[in-house]
Parts: sequence; structure tokens; C-alpha cells
Amino acid sequence: MNLEDLSGKIVVTSGLGGMSGAQAKAGVICKAVIVVAEVDRAALYKRKEQGWLLEAFEDLDSTVARMKEAAANKEATSIGYLGNIVDLWERLAAEPGSEALVHLGSDQTSLHNPYYGGYYPVQLTFEESNRLMVEDNAAFKALVQESLRRHVTAINTLCAKGMRFWDYGNSFLLEASRAGAEVWDSNDTIRSINKFRYPSYVQDIMGDVFSLGFGPFRWVCTSSDPADLALTDKIAEEVLLVERNAAAEASKGQIDDNLLWITQAAENQLVVGSQARILYADCSGRQAIAKHFNDAVASGALKGPVVVSRDHHDVSGTDAPYRETSDVYDGSALCADMAIHNVIGDAARGASWVAIHNGGGTGWGEAINGGFGLVLDGSVEAQQKSANMLLWDVLNGVGRRSWAGNANGYATIRRAMEHNSALQVTIPNAVSPALLGKF
Ligand SMILES: NC(=O)c1ccc[n+]([C@@H]2O[C@H](COP(=O)([O-])OP(=O)(O)OC[C@H]3O[C@@H](n4cnc5c(N)ncnc54)[C@H](O)[C@@H]3O)[C@@H](O)[C@H]2O)c1
Repeated sequence: MNLEDLSGKIVVTSGLGGMSGAQAKAGVICKAVIVVAEVDRAALYKRKEQGWLLEAFEDLDSTVARMKEAAANKEATSIGYLGNIVDLWERLAAEPGSEALVHLGSDQTSLHNPYYGGYYPVQLTFEESNRLMVEDNAAFKALVQESLRRHVTAINTLCAKGMRFWDYGNSFLLEASRAGAEVWDSNDTIRSINKFRYPSYVQDIMGDVFSLGFGPFRWVCTSSDPADLALTDKIAEEVLLVERNAAAEASKGQIDDNLLWITQAAENQLVVGSQARILYADCSGRQAIAKHFNDAVASGALKGPVVVSRDHHDVSGTDAPYRETSDVYDGSALCADMAIHNVIGDAARGASWVAIHNGGGTGWGEAINGGFGLVLDGSVEAQQKSANMLLWDVLNGVGRRSWAGNANGYATIRRAMEHNSALQVTIPNAVSPALLGKF
């Protein structure tokens, strides 16, 4: 399937909340018909008013009729369904025919917090759920788990007919497994974290990008001036064009995707608050973008300082065995010390602030997250700090992935050492299986 052009294809998911609202926009950018179920009327209509969601329906018949019509006409549209995602999945699973009507499926309810409002069970209305979760949480939990089992049964039926489903990093598979739903790979007897029958988006959608050092770098224009954001977009584009020429072959595709993104970001009108942007970049890309932003602040081309940062969902900042570090396969995915190394290193190398927190994205107790902010005020010190700090902030995690036996991690850290003689990272020495077998 060509993921850049999903004309005529139907995607079904749920959640129009704080982050999940982006799904509708992403589906339209890829030219798909995307249907998003949302139980909360206020959340659904907020996304529609903001333009993130194009259409809204309040009953299943109209929703399903419209999705079929739009797919037949190859329209790119986003359709909100005000109701429970399980009702929608069960209705779609009951559609006649040997081929699934839906091509792609996922879920972005807040399953990192399943029993306190992150996931609304299908047996209750939105209002009933809000009452029961407070008055009798044990009864509410039982309903959530039953709902998750029904949720997965319907998805399994559609996947048996050809739909492709993946975990969106919201702990769907983890919580469904805890609820006793049929999410395990039937060939797996050990039930390890990598043996769900559906993949996580980390492996299936993103690919091995963290090992190359790519992650969601971001910045905020403190002037709050849209013209400053437009200039930073332009600077970032110019930097990526230069970076692409010098990049390793394995990284060129990533840079191409992000060039496409940064040239279209403004027209997609994604800013709803601060004048801020996210752009996937690797270590040298982040360092170069920060340097050019700092220069533009110093020259007055940008009207105010720029804060650079990143999401916790990144190369080095987070230990989360079901998400960010689910692609660390040497058995160390369950360790929780990389995020600590990350903030200590960032703090020592000049971050304006650092944060260490728990549970980002996957739920309390499931992840440790480190984060930072660095103010680029145009000074020489800011430039030095950004170069030193971003190096550590990215390569710490690349080095770890190299040590865990990842080929991209190994190549990336070797390349970084070739470009910077002051950088010395311990690298693994692979033992041939034949030699290992002798002992
Ligand atoms: N993979 C990533 O990079 C990534 C990024 C951001 C967020 N996430 C994860 O995605 C999840 C959602 O994040 P968010 O910020 O949008 O959360 P949110 O709580 O703001 O939104 C979730 C929405 O789901 C709706 N919902 C809950 N149960 C439902 C059901 N059964 N049917 C229909 N709608 C239902 C809620 O009403 C809510 O509006 C979180 O678990 C978050 O950790 C992943």
C-alpha cells in the first residue's frame, strides 16, 4: 500500500482528544477517508471547529454510508463519529463480504490510563461512565475490560478479512492483553513483549529511526509572531537541504520525508497555541538548525529568542519497553536508566531546564521520561550549549542501540565519531554465532 497516497482507502480509529485529534488531519494529508470515533461531544466538535476534522455524524448508519460514498469517490476526508469505537468496529465487522471494508485500523483512546477516564466502555454512555468510574471503580474496571475484549474481537474479525491494525503507542495492546483479549501471537508460547499479534507503530510505521538519531525535535518562537515561525520553517528547510547532501544513505529517506513535511506545515494550519513546530531531525540536523536559529536571533531576523526542545518520544529521553525502547532487543528494554543519564547529561551540558517524569504516553509505572528546554537568545554561549547538549541528547540513545546490537545504531555512532574526534563511545564487538556455539 502506498502510504503517501491512500486515495479510496478507509482508515478507522478513535480519539479526537489532545493528541489523537491529529489523526484526522494526518489521514486527509495522506488522501484517505479517515473515520474517528469519539465519545465526548465537546472534544469532537472542538476538533471540527478548529478545522482538524472535516465532517461529523451522530449515528452509525450515516457514518458508514458516508465513509463508503467518500471511498468510492476517492475523496480525502475525515469523518467524526460521535459514539463508542467498539460500536463502530462491531458494526463494521458485521458488514457482509469476504474483504474488510476498512483497510487500516488503529486506536488512540487514552489507554495509558484505562480505569480513570482514558477509555470509555461500550456498555455505558459517556455520562454514565464518568459517574461509575468515581462511584464504583471496580465495577467500572470490569466493564472496561469486557469492552476491550469485544473491541479486540471485532478488530480480529476485520484483520482476518485483510485489514491492517497497529498499536498507536497508547498501550492498547498492553491493556487489551491485561483484560484477557485475544491479542497474543498464537505461535508465541513465552508471551514476550514483542509477540503481540499486531505490531507497535514503532516497528511498523516509524521504522528504525531512533537508531539513526531521528526524533521529534521541536521549537517555540517566544515572540509569538507567526512571521517568526514562518522564518524558522524556512531556515529548517534550508538546513535539511544541506544536511541531505552529507547524510548517510540510510538517513536520506528520513530527511526527504521531513523536507516534505516542513514545506507543507504552514499550509496545513496546525498551530493552535504557541507558535511552535515539530520536525524529525538527527543529531547533526538538530545542531545545525539550532545554530542557524541562534544566528537569526543574534542578527535580529527573528524578533525574539527561540526555545528548542523535543518530545519525550525520542531517541534517548525515554525508557519505555512497550514503546520508545520496544526496539531494543538485547534484553535491556526493561531497564530504566537511559532517561536519567539523559537529563543529567543535558543539565551538565547547558540545558536551560530539564525534567524527569514518569509514565509519558504509556502510563504511570510503564515509562521514565527525560526532557529539556534550551533558550537560544542569540549569544555565543547559547550556541556552544546547544552544540554540546544536543550531541549528548541524541547520541546517548544511539550509542545504547548500537550496544544492543542494532546495525543502524552501530553505523550512526561510528559515523558520528569519525566526524567528531572528541567523541569516544564504547562500541560492541560482535561474536560470530559459530564461535559462540563452541562454549
Ligand atoms: N504514538 C505517539 O506518538 C503518541 C503521541 C501522543 C499520544 N499518544 C497516546 O495516545 C493516547 C491519546 O492521547 P490524547 O492526548 O489524544 O488523549 P486524550 O485523553 O486527550 O484523548 C483521547 C480521546 O479518546 C476518547 N475516547 C476514550 N474512549 C473512547 C471510546 N471507547 N470510544 C471513542 N472515543 C473514546 C476520549 O473521549 C478522548 O477525547 C494516549 O494514550 C497517549 O499517550 C501516542
